[in-house]
Amino acid sequence: MSVTSSDSASHSGALEGSSAALEGSNAQRGLWSSRLAFILAATGSAVGLGNIWKFPYVTGENGGGAFVLVYLLCIAVVGIPIMMAEVMIGRRGGRSPVKSLSLIAERDRLNPAWKLVGAIGILAGFLILSFYSVIGGWAISYVGTTASGQLTGQTADAVGAIFSGLLSDPTTLLAWHTLFMALVMVVVVRGVRSGLERAVSILMPALFVLLLIVVGYAMTTGHFGQAVAFLFQPDFSKLTTSGILVALGHAFFTLSLGMAVMMAYGSYLPKNISIAKTSMTVSVIDTGVALLAGLAIFPIVFANGLEPGAGPGLIFQTLPLAFGQMPMGSLFGTLFFVLLIFAAWTSGISLLEPIVEWLEERKGMNRTVSTLGAGIVCWALGIASILSLNLWADFAPLGFVPMLEGKTIFDLLDFFTANIMLPLGGLLVALFAGWVMSREAMEKELALSPGMFNLWLITVRFITPVAVAIVFIYNLM
Ligand code: PHE
Repeated sequence: MSVTSSDSASHSGALEGSSAALEGSNAQRGLWSSRLAFILAATGSAVGLGNIWKFPYVTGENGGGAFVLVYLLCIAVVGIPIMMAEVMIGRRGGRSPVKSLSLIAERDRLNPAWKLVGAIGILAGFLILSFYSVIGGWAISYVGTTASGQLTGQTADAVGAIFSGLLSDPTTLLAWHTLFMALVMVVVVRGVRSGLERAVSILMPALFVLLLIVVGYAMTTGHFGQAVAFLFQPDFSKLTTSGILVALGHAFFTLSLGMAVMMAYGSYLPKNISIAKTSMTVSVIDTGVALLAGLAIFPIVFANGLEPGAGPGLIFQTLPLAFGQMPMGSLFGTLFFVLLIFAAWTSGISLLEPIVEWLEERKGMNRTVSTLGAGIVCWALGIASILSLNLWADFAPLGFVPMLEGKTIFDLLDFFTANIMLPLGGLLVALFAGWVMSREAMEKELALSPGMFNLWLITVRFITPVAVAIVFIYNLM
């Protein structure tokens, strides 16, 4: 608890300075203890349901290899440059995303409205956490389902009924959602060093080990060669325009971009650590985990003659069915869902951190109050997502808008965050870094060779905004 109060004291102490605080502020705040700590935390944020749940199913839906290639290109060309921009803005300002942007704007005599970019990001992260936690709850529930051996030898119908049974039961969903939010809050309340850093330094290595175990299992019991070919042999006839857009949108989501998370984490980054190298490392690990998740899942899917394009149910229905048929499937199925919880947990932490950082600073609340406040409101909002799956399944609050017809609250939250707030946040970050922020400040923060700096600048100026604008407009159509 002493850490909590000293954290908040350093926050409020750092607040009084305005532009002068830009340089000196970091020294007074709790910072990541090392480059490795930041890498683990940022990777913990990036590696989540997006890698293990979403990447395999969107890859399956979009035909495999060619989609993977486009996705890799999006990570390299759009993802890494934006991550560098976000971390840079966060470290430059050294405060919550909103305050960092407004300090930078004040100092460089820019329009103060730029701070809204941070606000959009914080709000998006908060909204996402409300339903991310519900899905995290499914993962918790599936640990019990697999460990109890309920799936052993079951038919596809029976496995499907377990999943729909879970979704139709609000009380059970609420219990797991509550547990997930509690896990997130327990870590965030302890602050950067003794909360976030300690959690990720245990959870991330554990996650890597579990992932390798499950890949090893898939390699020996599944159709590994077929999975490798599916993921890495591009067949461009299977690539569609919408597949390209999905790849770009997913690159954003999976790297936790456009949601102020990397800004918040960057604000705790010591000045002597290279932003470019760490951003690249985080992106490479995140991509590696997604590909390994594919190598864990598809061999099992193919060996059991299942459909790779099964959609969102792939890991909650298809995969459990396969585990139920395989030797030691209960054990490895359980390990798989534990891994999924760890991945979702460290991402959940990163979704709560920006708003807690902002509340501490803006409202002068201590860390305990701001974590409890934000966490409980987010938990309560999650109840609406839970009810959307059952009792409110027919309730479409914005159904009068043609594009939003039939969308439940859960669907709306997902739609607005993923399709509107996130690309908008990313676009604005690229525009801010590419066109508005002072070049001198950016050169100093990034400390790249002139050639590399120009390459980065050209990317965030032109390539990223155009790519994101295309996705944005397409998604709205
Ligand atoms: N990147 C996380 C994932 O892949 C999700 C996330 C998005 C986390 C945005 C934080 C912020 O699941």
